Amino acid sequence: MKHRILQFDRLQPSLEAALAERYDVHPLWTESDQKTFLSRHGHEFVALVTRAASGADAALIDGLPSLRIISSFGVGLDKIDLDAAKRRGVAVGYTPDVLNDAVADTAFGLLLDVARGLSAADRFVRSGEWPNRNFPLSVQVSGKRLGILGLGRIGRVIARRASGFDMEVRYHNRRELADAPYAYESSLEELARWADFLVIASAGGAEARHLVSAKIIDALGPAGFLINISRGTVVDEAALVDALAQRRIAGAGLDVFENEPHVPQALFALDNVVLLPHIASATHETREAMAALVLENLTHFFEHGAPKASAI
Ligand code: DGY
Repeated sequence: MKHRILQFDRLQPSLEAALAERYDVHPLWTESDQKTFLSRHGHEFVALVTRAASGADAALIDGLPSLRIISSFGVGLDKIDLDAAKRRGVAVGYTPDVLNDAVADTAFGLLLDVARGLSAADRFVRSGEWPNRNFPLSVQVSGKRLGILGLGRIGRVIARRASGFDMEVRYHNRRELADAPYAYESSLEELARWADFLVIASAGGAEARHLVSAKIIDALGPAGFLINISRGTVVDEAALVDALAQRRIAGAGLDVFENEPHVPQALFALDNVVLLPHIASATHETREAMAALVLENLTHFFEHGAPKASAI
């Protein structure tokens, strides 16, 4: 008999098809009254498939009394109530590592774009401005100082990319890493003061909320650039908008926002910020690898009692 699985919301078609082939899947998003559905049928499901942006809160986990595993499409865990899962003895699988390259590539894409004004230059050409005047000079990336907040799996790949640009790298984590070949800054403020580019690659979540405050943004200063490919909540977004509008920092490259998919309107008119719709891991190759790991986590759990990549 096939395991009965609850699918929280839409996933990419290849993953939905593979899940439907292997399991007895029910699409929760098609239920108009999810609360009533869960009170009647919640006990039927042994697995929940979700994604990083949707997560699984305590109410959902508690509404599934037979739940044994959550398999999440994504590396972010900030929207999954891990404490509730632990209390219930529910395993949590996620998709680390397979997206490191794509996310690091995006971080560097944003960094190059905002420093060299690539998107702005593209808009300049398309608007027919080139025959009238030269595009303003921009800021060189090669040889500059790169500060990384969060030298984890993705942060380390970003640091490796930096060597191709002859950049000096330092990082800030809660603790110094014995095996990291980069200088450690015990204070985020000092890292920001030192860096030309501050890249946020830390995990999100309550502990990291507004870690990048107005004080950190001001330490980065009028020649500094902020890049965020982590979670919007790590930055005090209102403070960042003010700093960009008042040119208290040189610019920002943002793939993530506090209240996605809503982006502060005040940013739309600014040419010192590059805005992406949370696409850091969104390549065909990476999304297929993430889908494969979502499936593997389920298979591994049903065969061996633990997901292949376990978050707890
Ligand atoms: C993740 O995997 O957490 C990325 O942010 C995509 O959602």
